[in-house]
Amino acid sequence: MADNSIPSFKAADLVIQLTSTPKAKSDTAAFGVIFTDHMLTIEWSADGGWQAPLIKPFENLSLHPACSSLHYAIQLYEGLKAYRGDDDRLRIFRPMLNMDRMSKSAKRACLPAFNQSELLECIRRLVEIDQDWVPHSDAASLYIRPTYISTEPSLGLKTPTRALLYVILCRAGHYFNNTGEALSLWTDPKYTRAWKGGTGDCKMGGNYGSTLSGQYEAVDHGCEQVLWLYGEDHQITEAGTMNIFLHWINEYGEEELATPPLDGIILPGVTRHSVLELTRKWGEFKVSERHLTMSQLCSALKQQRVKELFGSGTACMICPIGHVVYQGEDLYIPCQVKNSQLTARIAKELTDIQYGRQPSDWTFLV
Ligand code: COI
Repeated sequence: MADNSIPSFKAADLVIQLTSTPKAKSDTAAFGVIFTDHMLTIEWSADGGWQAPLIKPFENLSLHPACSSLHYAIQLYEGLKAYRGDDDRLRIFRPMLNMDRMSKSAKRACLPAFNQSELLECIRRLVEIDQDWVPHSDAASLYIRPTYISTEPSLGLKTPTRALLYVILCRAGHYFNNTGEALSLWTDPKYTRAWKGGTGDCKMGGNYGSTLSGQYEAVDHGCEQVLWLYGEDHQITEAGTMNIFLHWINEYGEEELATPPLDGIILPGVTRHSVLELTRKWGEFKVSERHLTMSQLCSALKQQRVKELFGSGTACMICPIGHVVYQGEDLYIPCQVKNSQLTARIAKELTDIQYGRQPSDWTFLV
């Protein structure tokens, strides 16, 4: 919830400097490669507090070499998207959930609090200014990347006395190179994405960068992503950079859509939250936040109780999973993409909302 008592910058103080050299807009659908003409920056210091927010031409940052975000990873980020609807209006999907998660990550990173509604209004203005960059396509969108870093210019590990909150925008097509094909996952319990008491439930860059070597080992084993396990009982936690859902007939014979609970090691994904809300509203089967282990998945597969397995995330949206390699064994999930009834239905309902085909209070008009 936005808290008006927090000392914060104000969107009303925005200073806007427009570029005199707008870039040619490329049609590339590649994720996160082409950035728009402008960026938002907001500086904070212990002495001066928050400065006026600034929208200015997109440019490199200049950082002190001792900057503690570079040395100690005192930083965080968010990811959300703006969509151009069939009515040509621009909608951002559930941005207050991102603002809220960003505030929680900031608290964990000892970065100063800010007013969430003021930040959202600054982001709205930025998207409005760069609105021509939002693709005219329902297979692409504009990815919004708020980033918040310590700019503390000293090597002592301490609460930052300087910080920079900035937002950049880029075109986003399919996150994975395939075009909606089912993903393959490799598991090895020697890698852990997050642990109890850690920061896995916050959106901090270190949670992602540290997964890369496991990711490349997955590729060496012929898979695309890692299925992250946790604990002696090999709990299923996340898949690549996504939350994970299992649609199955559970051990009690009930049809269930299950995802691991927010017990500190799971990122509280906006898409995850939306899938839970959407399917609970349908009321057609049990929807649970519960622990799931590899042995439960393996026996359900043997007994043909698994219907579908899929990942969810902002960048990838909803992504069916077709193959898991576990302890050297190939587990095939019965989800030929064409027959992935639930995955396809959820993806359609979410995109209908995002592109304004289905009116919803989950969208925020730019
Ligand atoms: C997102 O889905 O927005 C993420 O943060 C994942 C990132 C690696 C692109």
